[in-house]
Amino acid sequence: MVHLDGKTALITGSTDGVGRVVASRLGQAGARVLIHGRDPQRGERVVAAIEAAGGTAEFMAADLASLHEVRRLADTIRKAEARLDILVNNAGIGTAGGSRLTSNDGHELRFAVNYLAGFLLTYLLLPLIRQSTPARIVNVSSAGQQAIDFDDVMLTRGFSGSRAYCQSKLAQIMFTIDLARELATSGVIVNALHPATYMDTAMVRRAGVTPMSTVEQGAEAIMQLAVSPAFEGRSGRYFNGLNETRANAQAYDDAARQELRALSLRLTGLTDGTS
Ligand SMILES: NC(=O)c1ccc[n+]([C@@H]2O[C@H](COP(=O)([O-])OP(=O)(O)OC[C@H]3O[C@@H](n4cnc5c(N)ncnc54)[C@H](OP(=O)(O)O)[C@@H]3O)[C@@H](O)[C@H]2O)c1
Repeated sequence: MVHLDGKTALITGSTDGVGRVVASRLGQAGARVLIHGRDPQRGERVVAAIEAAGGTAEFMAADLASLHEVRRLADTIRKAEARLDILVNNAGIGTAGGSRLTSNDGHELRFAVNYLAGFLLTYLLLPLIRQSTPARIVNVSSAGQQAIDFDDVMLTRGFSGSRAYCQSKLAQIMFTIDLARELATSGVIVNALHPATYMDTAMVRRAGVTPMSTVEQGAEAIMQLAVSPAFEGRSGRYFNGLNETRANAQAYDDAARQELRALSLRLTGLTDGTS
């Protein structure tokens, strides 16, 4: 087992599902674990379980449907933590639900929660992560990917929960490729993955799908990208479970990634690469 004593990890969406298992594994390996979600009671239960197993953890609440809350979460972490060695952008909303919903900021909800919140959080935490090298960023995406229609990113026409989910998941991979280039030679490795197919989680049950994988399988794939020493120098890649593979073709389209990046900077109010 990898030893992570003295290291700090943040896992978004670790009050449930595969994120909770990853948090527990990182805690067992000796990392101080920052648990994130919306529900303080569930968050404190995850903290208690990690502490009962001899680890150290703290819960931080933030609704990622609000960019203001993302900024508040990042501020809290930047003020309280001396380092951040591992960031796992895992929180997400699944495919269930046919009605188009919007975030507090008026953005299509899955684009906002699954992608844009992680984009902003990552950039706000990047100075701390850069100070903590060698460091890792893992973007938990999905094999469910769909090309982004830049004429209607917010899906005002032809909405479906599945389409919204799939474009948000591809956006995470496009961000991963760009960020890895930006961070080349920085000591920060960033990769994206599909953890496992239809794990037994609330997201999958809500979609009415019969689970095919366990959260332990997905957690193993996330842990590989978060801590495996074999990943030194391998950045900007997309994995299906434990194996590197190709994402949707749009991920490798430089112009599409540039367009997504410009839009994301504008929507989050970030200037290029800064807070
Ligand atoms: N399950 C699968 O088979 C599968 C397959 C491919 C990819 N994935 C990806 O794996 C990741 C985890 O999925 P999961 O199946 O473990 O899901 P899950 O059991 O439904 O857990 C989702 C987590 O995200 C948090 N979350 C959701 N909306 C949020 C919001 N607005 N603000 C803050 N936190 C929020 C939830 O927190 P609350 O406790 O506050 O609800 C929860 O901790 C997702 O990114 C998903 O797309 C899953």
